[in-house]
Amino acid sequence: MAEITGLKIIGDEPKAVSRRSFIKGVIAGGVAVSSATYLFRASTLLSQPSTSGIGERLITINVNGQQRRVDVVKQETLAWTLRYKLGLTGTKLGCDRAECGSCTVLIDDVPYYSCSVLTHTVRARKVITIEGLANADGTLHPVQQGVIEEQGFQCAFCMPGFVMATVGFLKTNPNPSRMELAYGISGNLCRCQDYDKILTAMMRGAELMERSKRA
Ligand code: FES
Ligand code: FES
Repeated sequence: MAEITGLKIIGDEPKAVSRRSFIKGVIAGGVAVSSATYLFRASTLLSQPSTSGIGERLITINVNGQQRRVDVVKQETLAWTLRYKLGLTGTKLGCDRAECGSCTVLIDDVPYYSCSVLTHTVRARKVITIEGLANADGTLHPVQQGVIEEQGFQCAFCMPGFVMATVGFLKTNPNPSRMELAYGISGNLCRCQDYDKILTAMMRGAELMERSKRA
């Protein structure tokens, strides 16, 4: 029987997945997460209002540069719409009550907890999720590249939120000290408590971003 520790089964064939390629998959689109995602999703499903039937309205929101038509109910959160209506599962749901920052997205370039924003309120605004950071040719955003280079996360569940918070913070302070950046993204929590490495990765991202402006 195949030894599956550290392997991913693709078809019938187990393939080795390096930590680097795993992280790259997560950072580009949040496609792989810990099993906790499913636990959180289950609890969230129970706590969310029904999103079918009475009260739904078809609205258009701008997500990652695209106009997306979606049916929403009045009390539906942006995190819910992104994940379960638009399939943008890179945005994670941790606490679902504005405490952990896992669900951070940019709205008009400002980081927000998308679990605490009602979808219908963003109709005239621009939403960017982790899936919208990389260039169309696949080149990662400098902050994403910083994560790859510094390997700054353990399970990586919190990573999209940290990346989005950092990208937003760097728009207001492009050349922060380590202390300033730590303060700037202090609204994001990591269950693995990998804060020192996360900060190193985010600082690397800031450095790469500055370098890309000079190139
Ligand atoms: S899931 Fe939104 S802050 Fe925790
Ligand atoms: S929650 Fe695991 S690396 Fe942050």
